[in-house]
Amino acid sequence: MRYELMHREIPAVTLEISSEDGKTYVERVSSVTAFEHLPIGTISPGSSKINPRRIENWLNERAIPKERSGLKRIIDFAGLPHPDRILLDSLGLSLSDQYWLRPAGSGIAWHDMNFFHNEFSADLGDVLLGEIDDAKGRMFVSPDASSTGMLPKRWIIREGKRLLMKGGKAPFFQEPENEVIASYAMESLGIRHVNYELTAVRGKPYSLCETFVDDKTDFVSAYYIADRCSDMPEDCRKRYDFLIGWCEKRGISGAMEALDRIIVIDFILFNTDRHFNNFGALRDADTLGWKGFSPIFDTGNCLWNDKATKDISPQEIGECKPFSEDFPKQLLCVSDFSWIDLQRLKDLPDEIAGIFRDGGRLSPKRVERIYSCLLWRVEFLENVIHERESIREKPGVRPGPRTW
Ligand SMILES: Nc1ncnc2c1ncn2[C@@H]1O[C@H](COP(=O)(O)OP(=O)(O)OP(=O)(O)O)[C@@H](O)[C@H]1O
Ligand SMILES: [Mg+2]
Repeated sequence: MRYELMHREIPAVTLEISSEDGKTYVERVSSVTAFEHLPIGTISPGSSKINPRRIENWLNERAIPKERSGLKRIIDFAGLPHPDRILLDSLGLSLSDQYWLRPAGSGIAWHDMNFFHNEFSADLGDVLLGEIDDAKGRMFVSPDASSTGMLPKRWIIREGKRLLMKGGKAPFFQEPENEVIASYAMESLGIRHVNYELTAVRGKPYSLCETFVDDKTDFVSAYYIADRCSDMPEDCRKRYDFLIGWCEKRGISGAMEALDRIIVIDFILFNTDRHFNNFGALRDADTLGWKGFSPIFDTGNCLWNDKATKDISPQEIGECKPFSEDFPKQLLCVSDFSWIDLQRLKDLPDEIAGIFRDGGRLSPKRVERIYSCLLWRVEFLENVIHERESIREKPGVRPGPRTW
């Protein structure tokens, strides 16, 4: 089938697409109308060649990932069509950017279809979140079809605003509350962030946040900024420089400042999942000019979310992303700590423990352990700030572990 790959009202290329075994294939790019509007990551920078495989990868990575929590069961038991099929049915429209697929010759207008201005079906979200257990005869025109990430999630409309609703992971389902706490911590430290609130559906916690793009903006993840992370070095500092290099090449400003904040908040909160699709930059979809890094989102995989209470310990320094698995090593990539208000930093462990206690969702023992770990991490960070040079000389050396 022929589709135009659209950027708002602008057709970028016409594609011959086929779908088989849960995968979309781009057989051919049959015409090019606005090369510059092709999504970042589908073209090698500096090249004027179009490789259909790259567009195909981009399209497949836009669909609900097959590894999404619970998806296989939903496909098997509720009869949900494959993610690639749903993506095409929803014309690939998204609430994170302005790309979509227009059936060739249909003449459909972006204004009549996009999810920023038009309502969308709740059916897909209902099926994905288990509200409906039979997918037959449902309408799947929804931004949920282009929503990535592993956690169960759906988009909803509340008072005209588009909100992403995200669940948590068994057994603790801590992620939604963690998002709220991360919002609090970032607010406190003056870090630009997406604000999350907590809600519940049938007793299960969910986080809610508004889309951080408007109808003229694209979010482009670091994965695509860095050309799908191909040829990425192994070494932490080299990885960091690799991404900074890509930001410079593409003309994205403020990367170092943004990465400083990401690395610091992830260190404090023990966020273990800042992969290259969990941060990125914003681009004006009309002018194609960059608007700097996006506010920080998806910090919920933190605060020992998947650790058994007995295993929550400062001694377990933990593995991080995206530059190193080693939190202290990654902290050394930070270029400037002067923006951190040390008093606010010191106050965070008490405040975070207070939010958990008020929420009443975690056991007192769990909150106590998280609190001890936070104290340890804040103290560690303070030491790094004050004695940065000493740790630089002896990588791997950490302040002595606290006991409690
Ligand atoms: N507030 C938002 N506005 C617009 N797009 C968003 C927003 N939040 C998330 N996204 C987009 O949706 C994707 C999935 O969301 P998110 O990363 O929060 O889900 P997740 O399931 O927690 O992901 P992961 O698999 O990384 O844990 C993001 O990578 C981003 O592209
Ligand atoms: Mg994510």
